[in-house]
This record gives sequence, structure tokens and C-alpha cells, in this order.
Amino acid sequence: MATASRTVLVTGGAGFIGSCYVLSRRAAGERVIILDKLTYSGNLENLASLQNDPEAVFVHGDIGDADLIARLLQSYQPDAIVNFAAESHVDRSILDPDAFIRTNVLGTCTLLRSVLAWWQKLDEIRQQTFRFLHVSTDEVYGTLHLGDPAFSETTAYAPNSPYSASKAASDHFVRAYHETYGLPTLITNCSNNYGPRQFPEKLIPLVILNALARKPLPVYGTGENIRDWLHVEDHCEAIATVLKGAVPGSCYNIGGRSERTNLEVVRGICHVLDELRPYSEGPYASLISFVTDRPGHDFRYAIDASKLERELGWTPKWQFEEGLRQTVQWYLDNAAWVEHVQSGEYRSWLERNYARR
Ligand code: NAD
Ligand code: DAU
Repeated sequence: MATASRTVLVTGGAGFIGSCYVLSRRAAGERVIILDKLTYSGNLENLASLQNDPEAVFVHGDIGDADLIARLLQSYQPDAIVNFAAESHVDRSILDPDAFIRTNVLGTCTLLRSVLAWWQKLDEIRQQTFRFLHVSTDEVYGTLHLGDPAFSETTAYAPNSPYSASKAASDHFVRAYHETYGLPTLITNCSNNYGPRQFPEKLIPLVILNALARKPLPVYGTGENIRDWLHVEDHCEAIATVLKGAVPGSCYNIGGRSERTNLEVVRGICHVLDELRPYSEGPYASLISFVTDRPGHDFRYAIDASKLERELGWTPKWQFEEGLRQTVQWYLDNAAWVEHVQSGEYRSWLERNYARR
């Protein structure tokens, strides 16, 4: 690969979406500096293909470590920072909200403060071209009823879970750093992602792995809650598009116009598995088990991504059913990855979240 044209610092780059972004930016020829704390969901195996790549540098550390951030900025002089680092699972935020405040709120604020101090010393041209992109979620907008219009960039924030409250707080600080200090920030708010390498606490990989283990497929409440699904590669392409074309201070919603009820998603996975890995004792859907609902469970998310499509020309490439099949196939093909993430921590999470439901 030719010498890198740009350097991007990717926080949370060993996680599900961050690793996809890192791999795609390396393929595009950029030098990538990855900062990751390697929490339970961070996984260096996600970056295994970059092991001997001198243009992909991994640093084990915390976005809340101001000294480390200052050293990294000084050493690598990034053209952009993309902040994926976060505690990302709603159910964990219900059981332990403080971890979400520490990383998502305080960590992001420390990162912003360190970046600002470094950015203020850059020359004028580099100050103008630098970008800080904060990766956020549609959950900051709260919940929708059937028939409500989809979330747009002007929908008021109304977070309902400790996770979404912490992400909303971080979005507000990012916005404030632009308005107050002129830091060239961008915010993206994306809907539910799916695809390879997602940690199996989230609905789609959890259901795939439970089905393969002939365990119950836990559906919260009635299974009628709706999410708007987007393939992780489409999300990463949207982030790159925003980074390239958006005006500092702007926000973009990202979504796939693929609303499905949870029951439709779970049945879809069962259907693919029935075909790819038939179950001798009947269809996989017979394993579906309705369990106690998530407290404060948002009913419906839907994203209006028309601003991104209109202004910057992004459109998703994956169609949901095709992407779901590719995702199921990936979990079938990557037994070693699956085995390694199903560690003691993962088993204790299943015990904490599901045993008494
Ligand atoms: P993930 O849990 O798979 O990855 C998070 C990564 O951040 C992990 O590698 C973890 O080790 C790292 N990390 C956590 N705390 C850190 C800290 N203090 N310092 C440095 N690294 C730290 O999550 P994901 O699904 O890849 O989500 C990435 C980002 O995208 C998050 O900000 C999340 O809010 C956002 N997002 C996710 C989705 C989704 O559907 N998964 C949708 C929209 C937005
Ligand atoms: O909308 C974007 C958000 O999507 C991201 O910001 C979050 O980081 C990401 O985790 C995701 O949040 P959700 O809570 O929507 O994802 P999760 O996969 O946990 O759940 C999807 C739906 O499935 C939700 O309605 C709850 C339901 N569910 C989930 C699990 C884990 C079940 O019915 N059973 C389960 O066991």
C-alpha cells in the first residue's frame, strides 16, 4: 500500500463499529492510530488483519487519560479524530449507569479538552482542516409511536435510558466545544447497526449464538418494539462521507430505512439458520421465548437520513435481509472468534441479565 495520505485517530477502534471503520480507512490508504481501552467489548482479534501493518498503530488506553491523549496528538498530528469509544449496551447501563457516565460523559469531555488545547496551537490552515467527529446514536431522541415521523436532526433530545442520557450529554458537550471555542466538530446520530464482529450481547448476534447452542431466544416483552437497522459498513461509509464533506458544527442522522419489529428480526435469523444449519428437532423459531421487558424500553426508532442523502450524496448499499444472511454466515464461519468472546465475563453477563428474567 502507498504511503498514507492522511492520519486519523480512531478511539474505540477495537470495538464492533470502530474496527470496521479502521479496516475501511486502511483500505482507503489512510494511516490509522487506534486508541482503545479494551473493555469486555474491545477485541484485538477484530484488527488481526492489520497486525503487521506499519500504518495501523494500536495504543491501549483510555479517552479519559488527558496526558496520554496529549502525547498521542503531539506524536501523530492527526488530520481527524473519530470518537467511537463508549459503553454501548442499554441493558448494562440499566444495571451499572456509572460506567456510562465515566466513559461516555467524563471521558468524552476529557478528550475534548485535550484536543482543544492541542488544536489551539496548530497553524491557521491546519486548524481549519482538522475535524473531530463524534459518533452518536438515534437513541438520544427518545421513542416514537407507530405513525410518528422519523427522527430528523431537529428532533428534540429526549433520552430514556442511562445509556442514551450519557450519549446525549456527550453530544451536548461536543456541540458546546464548537459554539464556545470554535473546535471543528461534527456529530452523527445512527440507528441500530448489525454485521460481522458485533459483541454477542446485542440482539442479532445473541440470537444467532443462542440458536446455534439450542438455547432459548429471549425476546423482551411482546417483541413488537421496532428498530431501524443499518449494516455496519454503510454506517462507516456514512461517517467517512460526513468527515469529508460536512461543514464544522453540523449534525447528520444516519439510517437504513429498514424498520423491523424485534420478532421479525428474530424470525428472520431463524429462517436463515433453518436453511444454512438445519436443526434436527424442528425450526429454530421453536426456541423463541418471551421474557420480562427491558425497563423504560423505547418502543420505536426510525431515522430520517434525507439530509445526508441530499447534501452529501450518501446512500446505504446493503438491503437488510441480504445483510442479515451475510451476518449469520459470518458467525458460522468464525467459530474461533465466537469461542474467544464467550469468555467468563460474557457468561457472567448472561447470568446477570437473563437468569432471573
Ligand atoms: P462496542 O461496545 O462494540 O465498542 C466500544 C469500543 O470502545 C470497545 O472497543 C471498547 O473497548 C472501547 N472503549 C470503551 N470505553 C473506552 C474508553 N474509556 N477509552 C477508550 N476506549 C474505550 O460499541 P459499538 O457498537 O462499536 O459502538 C461504537 C460507537 O457507536 C459508540 O459510541 C455507540 O454509542 C455508537 N453507536 C452504536 C450503534 C450500534 O448499533 N452498535 C448505533 C449508533 C451509534
Ligand atoms: O439505536 C442505536 C442503538 O442500537 C445503539 O446506540 C446502541 O449502542 C446499540 O446497542 C443499539 O441499542 P438497542 O438497545 O436497540 O440494541 P439491542 O441489540 O440491545 O436491542 C435491540 C432490540 O432487541 C431492543 O428493542 C431490545 C430487544 N432485545 C435485546 C436483547 C439483547 C430483546 O428482545 N432481547 C434481547 O435479549
